[in-house]
Amino acid sequence: MLVITVCVGSSCHLRGSYQVIERLEELIKLYQLENKVELKASFCMENCSSGITIRIGEGGPITVFDLTELKKLFVDQVLPQIGGR
Ligand code: FES
Repeated sequence: MLVITVCVGSSCHLRGSYQVIERLEELIKLYQLENKVELKASFCMENCSSGITIRIGEGGPITVFDLTELKKLFVDQVLPQIGGR
């Protein structure tokens, strides 16, 4: 199971973490990965300077600035890790 962690600490929350979670849920459904990808919320990941922080698997923090980036991120970084490409 690949875990995608989304920061819901106060600055990320204010910038829209919940929309990021919703969009990721949509992408997981779209690619039918409910059994392969799990979403988790996290407290502050100490990367609050800009955007919303997420982490894919054991990777480092990734800053998301815009919901439209998520699909590309998903295709480029999530699908290859679960052999879904
Ligand atoms: S609140 Fe998200 S990284 Fe700090």
